[in-house]
Amino acid sequence: MPALSLQQLQLINFRSYKRLTWDCPPGLNIIFGPNAAGKTNLLEAIGYLALARSFRQQQDQQLITWGANSFQVRGLCHSNGEKIELVINYQQHNNKKLTINGNGNRLIELLGIFPAIYFGPDDLNLLKGGPAYRRHFLDREISMGDRIYCRNLQDYRRILFQRNLLLRAIKAGRGKEEELEPWDTQLLVTGKAILEKRARFLQSLAPVVAATYRDMAGGEKLALIYRPGVADQEEWAERLKAGREREIQAGMTLWGPQRDDFTFTLDGHEARYFASQGQQRAVVLALKLAEARYYREILHVMPVLLLDDVFSELDEERQGALLELLAAADQAFLTTTEVGLLPARLRERSHLWELTRGREPRLTSGPAGAQ
Ligand SMILES: Nc1ncnc2c1ncn2[C@@H]1O[C@H](COP(=O)(O)OP(=O)(O)OP(=O)(O)O)[C@@H](O)[C@H]1O
Ligand SMILES: [Mg+2]
Repeated sequence: MPALSLQQLQLINFRSYKRLTWDCPPGLNIIFGPNAAGKTNLLEAIGYLALARSFRQQQDQQLITWGANSFQVRGLCHSNGEKIELVINYQQHNNKKLTINGNGNRLIELLGIFPAIYFGPDDLNLLKGGPAYRRHFLDREISMGDRIYCRNLQDYRRILFQRNLLLRAIKAGRGKEEELEPWDTQLLVTGKAILEKRARFLQSLAPVVAATYRDMAGGEKLALIYRPGVADQEEWAERLKAGREREIQAGMTLWGPQRDDFTFTLDGHEARYFASQGQQRAVVLALKLAEARYYREILHVMPVLLLDDVFSELDEERQGALLELLAAADQAFLTTTEVGLLPARLRERSHLWELTRGREPRLTSGPAGAQ
């Protein structure tokens, strides 16, 4: 029995799925169908079981089928020899509710049970997009393996929000500067934990990303570099003190992990400016592959892989690197509009599912030798 897999997915009013019950086998699953058939929606639903959030950086509200006012995602999973039923309910204007094996749980308990890594066309934004994409990536990925980080992050956001409100109140003459002190202390303590964990995460990931890129693309040397919003806690504390007037004028907190970023360089040159399109795709692919390897180490299971229409964009060598990773996965879901464009050796090892809009995926063939 595989260490981690989804056995059954059930959806109610999730995106284009009013109702869906889908029994999905371990191993490789290729989902094919025309544009707008609901392929990405299906991966999004599976990914939702990992973090109770969409990987599309979207609000839960947008996941509700138009015209409905709640959705449910239910997954029956195998995780390290245990059978686990995860149910997440979202009610419009209300909080999410999680039950694990029928018992109500805090959402944070979900983390680490069903880790999944999504890789899709928008991930190029990790390189080309603004820093918010990369912070979003850090937060998702670290949270998946670290509940304390997730809790810290929630605290930090709340503190930041309150502190910003106060800065604006002071600007409007409705607050006093001294009132900032307790918020500053909390900001520094909570923020420090976030900065440290992000630094550690990127430090562990960097050599794996570099090695993955080297094996896959060869040639230039890839480096992943953390660019924290503040160098350390002392510097941060000083900036908060010295920059108080600026912050009041701006009505927002100007320094801290909310300004973090990271970059990639190829032979020392900033990849987002100088890398070719193929190189850019290889960098992002290396990051995703490295992440899967990283989780296998810290969580002792290989995350479920969700690969959204990525094969056709890769050259043969990179397809090979991805195939190698897929061989190590307990379960993976791949989407494509054109099965014929996928490498034959991948198709032969996969379950092929045909998807028509609003319908359940229909099995058209299984892996060679399995039937
Ligand atoms: N909240 C929603 N309620 C109902 N339908 C939705 C909702 N959100 C998205 N959709 C529908 O889902 C469709 C898109 O599905 P999806 O992105 O999964 O397609 P896809 O099969 O991945 O297509 P492509 O091959 O173009 O990527 C859209 O056409 C849209 O009509
Ligand atoms: Mg899609």
